[in-house]
Amino acid sequence: MNIPLDRHSPTPIYLQIRNYLSRLIKSGKIPDGQKLPSIRVMSTSIQVNKLTVIEAYSLLEADGLIHARQGSGYFVNRTITVLSNLTLRSTFSPSQEVIISQGGGSFFEQYTASIQARRQQDIIEFSSGFPSSSISDNLQRVAKRALANAGDILFREDFPQGQLMLRQLIAQMLVQQGLEVSPEDIIITTGSQQALSLAMQYYLQKDDWVIVETPTYHGALGILENLQAKVIGIPMTVEGMNLELLEQYLKSHRPKLIYTISTLHNPTGITTSQNHRQDLLKLAEQYECFILEDNAYEGLNFQPVPSPIKALDRHNLVTYISTFSKTLMPGLRVGYMVVTGEHYQSLVKHKLLNDLHASTVSQAIVSEFLASGHYRRHLNRLRINNLQSRNVMLQALENYFPEAITWTIPKGGLFLWTHLPHYLPIQAICSEALSHNVLVASGAAFFLGQGYPAMRLNFCQTPEDIEHGIKILGQLIKKYLTKSFISIDLPSQYVSVSSIHL
Ligand SMILES: Cc1ncc(COP(=O)(O)O)c(C=O)c1O
Repeated sequence: MNIPLDRHSPTPIYLQIRNYLSRLIKSGKIPDGQKLPSIRVMSTSIQVNKLTVIEAYSLLEADGLIHARQGSGYFVNRTITVLSNLTLRSTFSPSQEVIISQGGGSFFEQYTASIQARRQQDIIEFSSGFPSSSISDNLQRVAKRALANAGDILFREDFPQGQLMLRQLIAQMLVQQGLEVSPEDIIITTGSQQALSLAMQYYLQKDDWVIVETPTYHGALGILENLQAKVIGIPMTVEGMNLELLEQYLKSHRPKLIYTISTLHNPTGITTSQNHRQDLLKLAEQYECFILEDNAYEGLNFQPVPSPIKALDRHNLVTYISTFSKTLMPGLRVGYMVVTGEHYQSLVKHKLLNDLHASTVSQAIVSEFLASGHYRRHLNRLRINNLQSRNVMLQALENYFPEAITWTIPKGGLFLWTHLPHYLPIQAICSEALSHNVLVASGAAFFLGQGYPAMRLNFCQTPEDIEHGIKILGQLIKKYLTKSFISIDLPSQYVSVSSIHL
């Protein structure tokens, strides 16, 4: 391949190579699936250093234009490019109503229905918050090797904060995400659900006020309900939590804790900007309120994302949480929290009282992934697969959903959020979808009150399932839209957004 290079240009050579190849791929001149020249061949043919080619290929990979196959070289992902050039119809303007309640959501029902459905062969499972298991062959091999090498540690009990080796590896990984911490700031937990539960129990007492985003992760709402905390739901905007409303309620209710998902929010998929993060932290500092930052989907971003809020924290106000459930295997149950200052030791004690320590078997497996470099390669592959699936779903939504429906275009993660007109009976639509073997997460689960009709759709499915499932949902929504236009008396629960005042 010949790439015209201007060696006197201010544009670095690796960028010239990237830009040139990018144009060829986007225009279809290098076809879908085609293998690019190897790094050695390319560096010889255009007479540049191999590192320059590696830099150019890495950028193309980060742009989602090519992907590396282990041992085989780099291949073009044209499908991704063509689809990402779509004029994507995404508007998201939820009502800005604050909801005050004691817990809420229906985590138990949603969770068990999803597990049940996954056991069924012919179901199209849009409801889960977990990745597809279809690219896990390698995972099983690495897991077996980890167990073969782990030896003695599998048979011993461990410290409550978790294995030092794993904490060191996580600390190294976090530095790459812009969060500089030491292994002594990390506690390994049994999934991030346990981390949430430990932190919420630690920061909150019965009847304390806590702020959450509306909508938010229903598993967190379940914990707050159990704790009998009083919950203020601050609405999401396209930028993240509405900060004006947040300030009002910080002032009036003096909450103890703000629970936020700053990157790839569940369920909306929204990632907040650096400015939003700074402003949120400033408010928390001003009103002396702790922040619980739950970034369970960190690492699944298609584009660079800002560093976590925890990276800005100078007063030990922020506890950061993440997990390997969304990237490796949820069944491993390995999550972690980053806690600094005096809170660390107290939370380690909480962890000990809860379940002594996280499974040494699972910790050894995650350590092997991180230490061997498999994790990084696996993440790259996962992101490319997820981006492709997201685009297939966006295309299907364009094709089959009526104009009245809006959705978010998440820049990563596993799902998108669709927003239906307020008069549509979401529960009836979800039930009818299930009778056609399509399981969706009704948005109601993610609200404190009733919220507005919405669906969270997991796009990590085969293209055929996405096409088929979205077509069915589109038909159902159209049917209910027509019905609601001819119906004179809409049932009241479909018309208003509820707000329960304590
Ligand atoms: C935002 C968020 N936090 C935490 C969890 C809990 O995940 P796990 O306990 O598997 O790490 C989930 C799972 O869906 C989630 O979406």
